[in-house]
Amino acid sequence: MEAWLITLIVILCVIFTILFVKYYFVMKIKWDNSATCLVGKTVLITGSNIGIGYNTALDFAKRGARVILACRNQEKAEDARAKIVDATGNSNVVVKIVDLSSLNSIRKFTKEINETEERLDILVNNAGIGCNDHSYTVDGLSLTMQSNHFGPFLLTILLIDLLKKSSPSRIVTVSSDLAFIGKININDLNRPVGTIFAKALDYSNTKLCNLLFTTELAKKLDTTGVTANAVHPGAVQTDFLKQPKTFWLKMLKISMKLFYRTTEAGAQTSIYVSVSKDIEGITGSFYIDCKKTSMPRSAQNADLCRKLWEKSEEFVKLTAEEKQCFKH
Ligand SMILES: *[C@@H]1O[C@H](CO)[C@@H](O)[C@H](O)[C@H]1NC(C)=O
Repeated sequence: MEAWLITLIVILCVIFTILFVKYYFVMKIKWDNSATCLVGKTVLITGSNIGIGYNTALDFAKRGARVILACRNQEKAEDARAKIVDATGNSNVVVKIVDLSSLNSIRKFTKEINETEERLDILVNNAGIGCNDHSYTVDGLSLTMQSNHFGPFLLTILLIDLLKKSSPSRIVTVSSDLAFIGKININDLNRPVGTIFAKALDYSNTKLCNLLFTTELAKKLDTTGVTANAVHPGAVQTDFLKQPKTFWLKMLKISMKLFYRTTEAGAQTSIYVSVSKDIEGITGSFYIDCKKTSMPRSAQNADLCRKLWEKSEEFVKLTAEEKQCFKH
């Protein structure tokens, strides 16, 4: 056979394979199609100026909710707000500033929300950070652990009164299927792992904490009408590779564009678990692609979940008064 013909066949095979894989990945995405209306409801999404959080907020705004964009950066959040109002015609969208890497900021933020908002029907713990250097926050906690677990933990507890008042209400925490490779070192929660793969591992550990937290939270909220579930958004094209510098990072960016889902698609499981009437009353569960999935073993270990909760209370210095929300 002639060389050009072989080359052509090879190229066609490659293109066909890419299209097939892409089709397979896209087919797997389940889109939330519930018609739930959110007029009269208030929703709060952390990290909602961009990505999955933004698309979640946009969807809730379309459904008529009062939307609270809980973000760290005022300017970026205002931009997101303008875009959402413009796209949906719903002007009941507000920006509130909170920095999960500061316990002070969280306490100030939740105090204001608790005092000024009449209700809270849906809380989406969406904000989190990916790989980062092993640094510590102003509170002396590991930045990844605080941003992804200790911060959302405290924020949720301090909003429980309002969620209970608005019951039936829902708490949705964005975890990841990477939780399955995570490990909980209960006596050493605040220390980053510290090896070459540490950054990814630290992240997985925090995502596993989200699941243990969800299990224990659901248990504590039993009979209150407030549900707590966790979701995995899928492999999503995030913007962490804006300007890839090396060849391999460029390749990674191209393959992410090809195979990973858009942030709009990535928001679907968060939206489904937040609004779908099909799962009313379901709590303590983990959802992937809008389907209930088993939690990793450690997140089913009641003893470990309780211990993580108690340790987390210590790390965020939860006061006796703040613990009251689970009493009544
Ligand atoms: C929230 O506000 C209510 C009063 O509306 C108050 O009883 C409760 O203690 C507050 N909760 C927190 C965590 O500040």
